[in-house]
Amino acid sequence: MNVLLVGNGGREHAIAWKLSKSKNLSKLFIAPGNPGTAKCGINIDIQTNEYDKLIRFAKDNNVGLAVIGPEDPLSDGIVDMFEKAGIKAFGPSGAAAQIEADKAFAKKIMKANSVPTAESKTFEVFSEAKAYIASRDEAVVIKAAGLAKGKGVYVCDEPSDGINAAEKMMCDKIFGKAGATILVEDKLLGQEASILALVDSKNIYVLETAQDHKAIGDGDTGPNTGGMGAYSPAPVVTEKIMEQIIREILVPTVDGMNRNGTPYKGVLYAGVMITQGGPRTLEFNARFGDPETQPILARLKSDLLEAMLATCDGTLDKITLEWDERPAVCVVMASGGYPGDYEKGKVITGVDEAEKLGDVNVFHAGTEAKDGKVVSSGGRVLGVTALGKTIADAQAKAYQAVEKINFEKAYYRKDIADKAIKKNQR
Ligand code: AMP
Ligand code: GLY
Repeated sequence: MNVLLVGNGGREHAIAWKLSKSKNLSKLFIAPGNPGTAKCGINIDIQTNEYDKLIRFAKDNNVGLAVIGPEDPLSDGIVDMFEKAGIKAFGPSGAAAQIEADKAFAKKIMKANSVPTAESKTFEVFSEAKAYIASRDEAVVIKAAGLAKGKGVYVCDEPSDGINAAEKMMCDKIFGKAGATILVEDKLLGQEASILALVDSKNIYVLETAQDHKAIGDGDTGPNTGGMGAYSPAPVVTEKIMEQIIREILVPTVDGMNRNGTPYKGVLYAGVMITQGGPRTLEFNARFGDPETQPILARLKSDLLEAMLATCDGTLDKITLEWDERPAVCVVMASGGYPGDYEKGKVITGVDEAEKLGDVNVFHAGTEAKDGKVVSSGGRVLGVTALGKTIADAQAKAYQAVEKINFEKAYYRKDIADKAIKKNQR
């Protein structure tokens, strides 16, 4: 089968790498891809929002499955467009993708189905949001309702910071339309975990757990980013907590999406806070997480293409996925300055040396080919991913690999997976 993968980030490189190993794969096309995906298949020069061109390409090239990586095309309804053209597509419909693209919609689904989450109120008028935040003298979380590349959430310990954040979103429009509606949420305390599940609208197949590191700085300090590193599994998710997550979060959400007339198909990603009172949902994403996908797929032994087809065909109850027992750690190397302004075009060296260490994959995220060299082209540049016998071994290997790679002003967190190691030592 020919497959067309849409996207160009680290997540897509990991998906392309895994799909390229499938026994049923004929040709893998990646639109537009990056220099990393070029090693797994054929990059084609079509952007992720050029829907007509993507569909024409898929028809002309006998594509049997389209796999959609990022959230923007999903929320624009790219899956509906492919299906209308008679091509299977992995991902939710545009209506179902609103579970990520509209946090107010997600809250409504959660409330209607008693899914545990933080208390919140939705505002469309700044003066009302301001009055509400000022009336509370505790920490608040301000969230842009729309898509903001993982940067639309401000955790504010002081109400005055909350008002500033709301003003930036609603009046200064720093996230454009995405911040026209905001949510003001209670702050939850605990450790976070990313729970990704394949969902075919009836069946739920939970993948191995992961933990992301959203803040830019060591010790979870500074502004949020798209994710600075991840590891899998997340020891904080014990068997008992996983049962609770399935029973209290995943099952009622998938049922609720059916009842709402927006059945869910694809990967459902629940961002969960493990609080003292049990797991609470922070957000849903309608796609694979980035960078969580890198360590999760590094551990997947089974055929990803088969699992994706089962998701599209409603036969997830017929599959079993095998996992490498060894943990994996992914350290993101970013451009200095990210998530603020940063320079691009820095020549990257040492990737082959890093991969020669063994059990290391360097997934490309923000890179491009220029004059025969690979250069940085985005905020998050590489996801250096390693497997190890223990999570400490995987961490040591990942950082050993990072040391081999160079580009000017490269920045990375030094503490990816520390939390998991401390937890294990207890
Ligand atoms: P979200 O995009 O909604 O997952 O939010 C991004 C990050 O902000 C999360 O991964 C958390 O670290 C933090 N966050 C979001 N909502 C809350 C909350 N209610 N309480 C505490 N932290 C939160
Ligand atoms: N790593 C967080 C996300 O993919 O949204």
